[in-house]
Amino acid sequence: MDSNKRPENMARITTKELADKFIEEQIALIREQVGDKKVLLALSGGVDSSVVAALLIKAIGKQLICVHVNHGLMRKGESEQVIEVFKGYLEENLIYIDGTDRFLDKLVDVAEPETKRKIIGGEFIRVFEEEARKLTDVDFLAQGTIYPDIIESKGVKAHHNVGGLPDDLKFELVEPVKLLYKDEVRVVGCALGLPYAMVYRQPFPGPGLGVRCTGAITRDRLEALRESDAILREEFEKAGLADKIWQFFTVVPDFRSTGVREGKRVFDWPVIIRAVNTVDAMSAEVPEIDWNILKKITDRILAEVPGVCRVLYDLSPKAPATIEWE
Ligand code: XMP
Repeated sequence: MDSNKRPENMARITTKELADKFIEEQIALIREQVGDKKVLLALSGGVDSSVVAALLIKAIGKQLICVHVNHGLMRKGESEQVIEVFKGYLEENLIYIDGTDRFLDKLVDVAEPETKRKIIGGEFIRVFEEEARKLTDVDFLAQGTIYPDIIESKGVKAHHNVGGLPDDLKFELVEPVKLLYKDEVRVVGCALGLPYAMVYRQPFPGPGLGVRCTGAITRDRLEALRESDAILREEFEKAGLADKIWQFFTVVPDFRSTGVREGKRVFDWPVIIRAVNTVDAMSAEVPEIDWNILKKITDRILAEVPGVCRVLYDLSPKAPATIEWE
């Protein structure tokens, strides 16, 4: 039987009971596969890797070693959340790498979107590889591959485009959620006790804020992006929109516009709000958002984020616009 093919009679995991059953089965399978050996996992904080981490912690405890690489392009508070959720269980087995300078230095003056993606993805693999080489007694590599990755991109997590670890690092793969769809992974994550905000996190691209700070990334513009994005998220949560809108974020483009502050002309950045609803991200609609909410967000961004003099709401559906700006 092809282990990468979901059996036709496999029931969809929709309830806590079904998730608990799946968890029990996987714990037994993981223990059988891994024995007393160690397993390495790149823990991004995304739903899939977080669920795999929680499953492995249940199955093999401290035989799991997680590496969280902060590429400096995370949303505000995101790396902190990963550490807060997992540090208690993993302690010294959670390795945190702050790669901010390394990634941002490599991206200086790089404006072409696909080159930016390749640099971020490639650097990610190199940082992870360096950590993997330091750990001499690890035999297994866990991955948060899910069924759509297998169907759509031959088992590679979508959009990585940069190859994997070098061949001489011979790990056997542990992929406990590879036959599950995203909604099932979420049900399993809840049953494992992961925080709701982590399990129902909106999709976040691998290159992170890097594709929302358009053109060549600068640290000051990246900071404006991170802060404005945090304000948008906070206000959408307060307004009860966070659960209703599929994906939302801000973009800070690499051009300035004229503004006026304290009687003087300034030349500052615009912040663009992007919010979309979609089923499969192949096409997307822009939701109508209450004017008062948009106005509150605009007022806060203009008052709280240095270097910004304008806020815009992107009304473009996909197609012809994509969801991300680059
Ligand atoms: P687009 O912009 O193509 O986005 O309409 C569709 C969905 O894919 C996400 N996206 C990415 N995810 N790496 C990722 O992991 C990427 O390079 C990337 N580019 C876009 C996007 O956030 C949206 O959910």
